Parts: sequence; C-alpha cells; structure tokens
Amino acid sequence: MQNPTLQHPQLIDLMRMAYSAEKAAAFAYQGHAGSVKDKEAKIRIKQIEDDEWGHRAEVLELMKQYGVSVSRWYEFRFYVVGKMISGSCYIIGWFMPYYFAGRLESGNVCEYFRMKQYFNSLGIHAHDKMLYDMGIKEKEHEIYFLEQIKNKKLLPFFEKIFAWGDKKSLNNIDLDKKYPVEESDVYCKMDKK
Ligand SMILES: [Fe+2]
Ligand SMILES: [Fe+2]
Repeated sequence: MQNPTLQHPQLIDLMRMAYSAEKAAAFAYQGHAGSVKDKEAKIRIKQIEDDEWGHRAEVLELMKQYGVSVSRWYEFRFYVVGKMISGSCYIIGWFMPYYFAGRLESGNVCEYFRMKQYFNSLGIHAHDKMLYDMGIKEKEHEIYFLEQIKNKKLLPFFEKIFAWGDKKSLNNIDLDKKYPVEESDVYCKMDKK
C-alpha cells in the first residue's frame, strides 16, 4: 500500500515506525512517572509523555497528508514494548528507567532529522521546521534524563556497556551550539542508515 506521490520507501517506513514508537515512549513514561517518588520528577516526566503524544499526532498528520497508512504490525509491536517498559519501571530500581529513557531519546533525535533529510531529498521543504523542532525536543528529553543520573556511580559502568552516557551520545547535536534549521543538515549525517 505505497503512496504513489511519495516515492521513498525508507521515509514511509520511518514515519510509520516513529508514529508507533512515540506511543511506546508515552506508555513507558506513564510507568516511569508512576514509579518515581519525587513530585517534580513526576511532573517533568508527565510533560515528556505529553510531548510524545504531541509528536505522535504530528507524525499522523504528516502521514495523512501523503496517504501513508498506519502499520498495524508496528502498532502492536510498540504497544507491547511500551507496556513492558512501563511495567518494568516498578521493579528495576531508580537508575535504569532514567538511563534507558535517556539512551532511547538519544537515538530518537536522529529519526526526525533523518526524516527531514529524506523529505528534502524529494525536494519537499514544507516540514523542515516541524521536524527540526521535534528532533530538538527529543534532544531536550535526552539531556533531562542525563542530568538526573550524571553524578551517579553506576553511570560510567552503564556507559561502557551500552555506549551512551555523559561522554557518549547517539547523535551529534549540542544544544549550547545549535545550528539554525537551514544549516541543520550536519545533524545525524554520521549515521548512514
Ligand atoms: Fe517524541
Ligand atoms: Fe522524547
């Protein structure tokens, strides 16, 4: 069921996946917010959950515009993933939900910059700002989670095993030295997927 107007199978797949993965993230944050005791943390994580629902709505709008259908397989798969992570937050302690949320966000950042690059490769620039903002928002999420665990003793150990932490990121965005949307093509080019 491919849209004839959007000749880019990778872009179509990426939109379908991002749409469903946002749901998994939102579910995961429900469990995370529920499992932490700190009130401020609960509020911040709930905000992040709302951001993910917002992203999901924005991706759906984009899909509708190009006649891209929702993948029932991704919807099922990410439903299960999200609910499993959500439940696990109550049993794996304090550190790991923060760590894996940060690591996941770190990878998600590039999904939106890559989506922008795919659209651009088709000569479509109408969604640049929206996709840029979504990518930057994921970066802010990553930084929030990293800030919470930055000084924890477990971090260097996890960083070594899972290749994300204070020194290693899965993207090359630096919020302190942000490129404007027109020059943001340098983002996520290191990943040739
Ligand atoms: Fe998101
Ligand atoms: Fe996020």
